[in-house]
Parts: sequence; structure tokens; C-alpha cells
Amino acid sequence: NAIVGGVRAVIGHVPESWLPGGTPDPLIDKRVTLGEQQSRVDGPDKVRGAARFAAEVAMENLLYAAFVHSTIARGRIADIDVSAAAAASGVALVMTYRNAPKMSVPPPIGMTNLKAAGNHTLPIMQDPEIRWNGQVVAVVLAETREQADHAATLVRVRYDAAPARTRFEEGKASAYTPESILVERNRIEKGGPSRKFAEAAFKIDAVYTTPWENHNPIEPHAATIVWRDGKLIVHDATQMIHGTAGSLAKIFGPNAGDVEVSSPYVGGGFGAKGLWDHQILGAAAAKLADRPVRVALSRASMHRLIGGRMQTEQRVALAANADGKLNGLLHHGFGVRPLHSICDEGFTLTGRSLYASESFDIVQHYVDLDLLANSFMRGPGETPGTFAIECAMDELAHAIGMDPLELRRRNVATRDPLSGAPHSQSAMMEAYDLGATRIGWDRRLAEPGVRREGEWLIGMGCASGTFPFMRMPGTSVRITIDASGHAHVSSAAHEMGMGTATVQRQHAADRLGLPLDRVTVTIGDSSLPFASFAGGSSQTASLAAAISSASAKLVAELMRIAGNDTPLAGLKPSEVEFSDGGVCSVGDHARQESFASILRRANRSDLSVVGESGAPLEIMKYSMHSTSANFCELRVSEVTGEIRVDRLVGAFDCGRILNAKTASSQFKGGMIMGLGMALTEETLLDERTGRILSTSLADYHVPVHLDVPDIEVLWTDIPDPRTPLGARGIGEIGTTGVAAAIANAVFNATGKRVRDLPLTLDKLV
Ligand code: MOS
Repeated sequence: NAIVGGVRAVIGHVPESWLPGGTPDPLIDKRVTLGEQQSRVDGPDKVRGAARFAAEVAMENLLYAAFVHSTIARGRIADIDVSAAAAASGVALVMTYRNAPKMSVPPPIGMTNLKAAGNHTLPIMQDPEIRWNGQVVAVVLAETREQADHAATLVRVRYDAAPARTRFEEGKASAYTPESILVERNRIEKGGPSRKFAEAAFKIDAVYTTPWENHNPIEPHAATIVWRDGKLIVHDATQMIHGTAGSLAKIFGPNAGDVEVSSPYVGGGFGAKGLWDHQILGAAAAKLADRPVRVALSRASMHRLIGGRMQTEQRVALAANADGKLNGLLHHGFGVRPLHSICDEGFTLTGRSLYASESFDIVQHYVDLDLLANSFMRGPGETPGTFAIECAMDELAHAIGMDPLELRRRNVATRDPLSGAPHSQSAMMEAYDLGATRIGWDRRLAEPGVRREGEWLIGMGCASGTFPFMRMPGTSVRITIDASGHAHVSSAAHEMGMGTATVQRQHAADRLGLPLDRVTVTIGDSSLPFASFAGGSSQTASLAAAISSASAKLVAELMRIAGNDTPLAGLKPSEVEFSDGGVCSVGDHARQESFASILRRANRSDLSVVGESGAPLEIMKYSMHSTSANFCELRVSEVTGEIRVDRLVGAFDCGRILNAKTASSQFKGGMIMGLGMALTEETLLDERTGRILSTSLADYHVPVHLDVPDIEVLWTDIPDPRTPLGARGIGEIGTTGVAAAIANAVFNATGKRVRDLPLTLDKLV
């Protein structure tokens, strides 16, 4: 993957003929259980309360952790007095940098290191240095959570404060400009943008800002941790099981095999559920106290310890000729990324793939501040990026006097605008047509501010969404066929609510020619074969490739052990296929033997194979993106400035949809995050002190039921011939473009262009 990334960084896409592969997955057109509306396999346990989450794992002799957070952004601890806390009732241990065990810096998560999960590169509780306001300075362990919380208030810290850099505007002056954004180059100047801008018939040039945002999964971060016989066992809520195990092994020294991470259920992640300080500090405190420890973060601790989406300021300029064809696309921007952050939020990637502009001028700068590391949050890069680009497209359409949908139609990319590589599959305008019909786009009036009902001004808006296709190498799956002919599929994959096991069970059943009730899928534990993280909307494709490779091995193994007495004797693996619970001759199925019969004759109780997803060569050859068309209809009160979103329609072009029910939930959840981004979400920072002020759901507003309108989800369902199962990712695309569609609808309703998220009512009155 390092090589894939390196080559892409240097030369962009390579010609198709340079690399092997490219035969479409035979399951692309086969519709057995895939594509059906299957309910979640984990649904009944969740509804009954039988699903055990990380903070619910029972353990004898358990201690509860509470954290003391620093109250300055930079400096050192001059003195820390833990005597009152240590003497408080129920307290077993107070850990500070003075008695914490030696721990090395967390190995950072990266595309080239899928066995690591760290989100920042700072030492954790190894010295008296303070590096952000909210850093943990003491861990209190007590017999009950309440005793720990109380004792934490008794820790007295005196600081030698140093001047801290906590202001965005000041940080911009000394911004840094790295050459790489993910696997693309940062500075792009192509096609002579300055000349194109000078000659253009129409131009717009505006600055858009998006705030710092925090993930707020319904389940706050938690881990139940024990050292048993020298082995570190972590029941975690994570979307990076093997990454967490691998990182903890490095941090604490023992071999990777000695760390076990289990995470069968995760109550939402959105990018936040990786390795942060709490698991590391919990494991360290458990080691010191020699007792099991539960860490369950409060919302306040979450906001102080788990990084969120970076704050951005983006300038977008667009130039077009008289018929609306883009001559120039400029996207410059600043985003907060402390130097210790791992997450490279490429918000300027958006404009490189969506539209066929004749010229490009793109660069992204980073602001280093003394703050908590920023991190991955659903659709990192594209989520803030589409807000800027797609509002700008709406502004351009208005300037030209053209329907905004028509402007997209004239400019939609038919191949990669920068490299010229062909799309693997792309039908964004079909998605636009589906969405436009559903919302009734022809009812929209081009002139803003003229549709009204009483005090309410009514408007409609649209915007594109996009997210790249990703597939991770090295993801492994074991398939075991048992004596009764059932298939057991296992991998250390993740379930954050998206339906991982549900969809892969459908996949395995179709691939192996078995009915659903003869397939089980086990995920969520580091003892299972390696799986990369559940991130970048890549997990489904990674697992699908691994299952596909394992089933090829399974054919070969079955034929080998079937020997010469089978009706299949003499056939090559390429001349057989799976069907009806066994192996048959291709096409006519004239010769066949069931799995159970093959195993019985071979005297085997079971047969196991492991398959692995290979290098994602397809992304080097093709421009691969999920895209969407977002539509919104809303009303704005002329009296209060309040926005009421009446309808959201999302039409998605993401390859083939594997499960209508779980996909629809994914898309809706993503769109609700986009709604929150548009209207309410904002992490409030006191720029004087670097202190986060919004530390509860009362301060950080996520949409509640009353805020969420009727949401309709549609999809093109066109298989992508370059991906496993013909599917692309659907986890993150749902959020991209939604905030722009809403802001564009606000403009259509009111004539007011708000370029600063969230769209709170003070900006509209
Ligand atoms: Mo995602 S932000 O890769 O969970």
C-alpha cells in the first residue's frame, strides 16, 4: 500500500495495461440474497440488551477510572498534590507522570501501517509537560465510579504556564504547507489558471468557514482492561481492533501476540473510535494497581481527549464561460492541524475529482496550534470540502442565471480531471435526475426570497457529494466448512452499527451457494484473522475481496480432499462452482457433491482456508469515487431566522447496493450528520485559553428527532466492474454535500448567502 500511495503521489493514475487484474467479480450480476433487504444479524441481541458493550463487560475486583484534565494549554506541572485524593474513600490508586509506567509514544495509524492506531505522536503521562488544555494529568482509580469522580476533584495541580498558540487567525500567519495530502500532491497548478480567470465571462470568489466539530456517538469511549498472566486484555469500543492491539503491544513492550483486543459491538464511531489516551492510561493504571480497570469517558472527557474535525477556512474561486463551462477552479485553504496530529484532512481533494474544469489552482495550508490533535470524522476532507465547492457552484449558477443542476450537468467529470484516468463507474447525473424527480425540483423558483407561507420563506437547494473508493490490503478471512456443510466465516472486522456481519453473511452465502441460515459470521476480536480498520468506507470491499480469495482457495482444497472417488473427479477447480451446498460442474451442474459428503469421505470434521485481500491495484488505474446528489427543501422564519428543514433527498451513485435496509440506514445516518453540520454542530473553543467549552450534549448540539425531517434515500445501483461485488463505499458519502445543499436552499429561500457554518439564526436576521 505504501507503494500504491507512493506511485499515485508521483505520477497519479497509471494506464490500465500496466497492471494486472480487472476481471469483474462474477457475483456482480448474480442476485440471490445480496441486494435484499436483510435485517441485521446483531439486531435481536441489541434490542434485547444481550449485546455486551465495552463498558458492560463484567469483571471481579474491578476498579473505575476518573481523569483529571489540565486547565492550561502549554507549560509544565510545577506541583501536583494527590494526597487528599489518595486518602479519599474507595480510592485504590492515583497515577501521575511521577508513578506512571514507562510507555513509548503510540505508533501512528496510517495507510502504510494498518497494525497501528495512534492518533497523535505525543508522549502520554511521561513528563510534567502540558501540550493542550484538557490533557490528562492524573488518573484516579476507585472502587466505584462515583468515588473516582469525587477523588479526581481533590487533586491539586499548580502549573508554570507558558505562552500558548491557541488562536486560528494568529496561527494562519505561520501556517505550514506539506507536499502531500493523503496520496495526492498538495499544490496543483494546471491548465494556466491565472489566464483562464482573467478571460472568464463569469467569476465568483468567496471564503467559506467550517468550525471544529466533534463526533458524538451514542456510546462514549470506553474500555474494560485487565492484565492476566502477563497478557494485556482490552475490551474496547474500537473501529481498529488489530491496530489497537498492535499499538498497545509497542507501547507496553510485550509481543503483539500478548495483547488481546475484543470489540464485538461499538455504539457508533464515525472515525473517533481509534486509539486515544484513555485506553493507554487505563492499561497503565491497571498494571500499577494490579487490578482490572474500567474507563468510561464522560462527554466532557471525550471532548477534551478525542480529537474532532479540523476547523477550516476555504477560499474557492470559480470561473466559467458564457455557457457555464468551468475554465478555472481555485481552492485554497487553511485547516487546524497541530504537528502532533496524524489526520491529514484533505478538504481540497473534493474539487479535483468532481468537475472537468479547464484549469486548477489548489493548495492547502495547515495551522499548528497547541490543541488536542484533530482527527478523522465521517468524510474527512470531503465533508468540509464539499461545503465550500458546492456552495461556490451554487453561487456561480446564480451569477450566470443558470439552474444549479444544469451547471453540474455541463461540468460533471467524465474522467479524472487531473490524471485523465477513466472512471471505474460514475453516474452522478443519473443520481441528480433521480433526486430531482423525487423532490420535485421543477417547483423551485430561480429567484430567491419570493416563495413564502406567512412568516416562512421557502427554498430549495442541491449539492453534489463525493468520497473516494478505498480498499485495504492484508484483510484476511477464514472460512471453515463443518461436517454438516455449514460455513463459518471469521475475521477481526468491526461492527459500529453499519451491518458488517449481516452483509458479509449475505455475500458468503451467495459466493458459496448456501442458504443464509447455513452461514455464520464472527467478527470483533483480535484472535481472529487480521482485518484493517473500519474506516475510509473501506471495510466492506476489503472483507469482500478476502472472502472472494478464500472461496477460491476453498474450491481448490475441496477438490483436493475429494480425491478420485467423487463425481467431480477429473474436473479442474476452474471447471467447478459452488451451488446447492456443494461443488458442481460449471453450468450444467450435472456432476456434484455436497460439502458434507466430501468431508465425510475424506474423514474430516471440518475444512478451513484463509483468504486475503490483495493490493488495491484498481485505485491506481481508475478514478474511483462514490458520488451523490443532495436535495433539500426548507423554510426560514423571517421573524426569528429559524431554519426548518422540511425534506432531504439523497440520491447515491455508489456501485451496487448490497443490502437495501442497512444501506438506507447508513445513508440516512450520514445525512443526519450533514444536517447537524449545517445547522447546529460546533465545538466551542475559548481562544484565549485553548479550553473547549462545549463539553456536553447540552452545549454541543446534534440533531434530535424534532430536527430531522423526512429523509428519502435513492440509489442508481449500477455495479462497478472494478470492485468486489460491484459495490463502492457508502459509510461516509452520506454526510458529504448535505450542508451545502442546505445552505444553498437557505439562499434560495432568503437571498442571504451564509458562508460560515453552522447556519445559526443569528446569521440570518
Ligand atoms: Mo471514518 S472518518 O474513516 O470512520
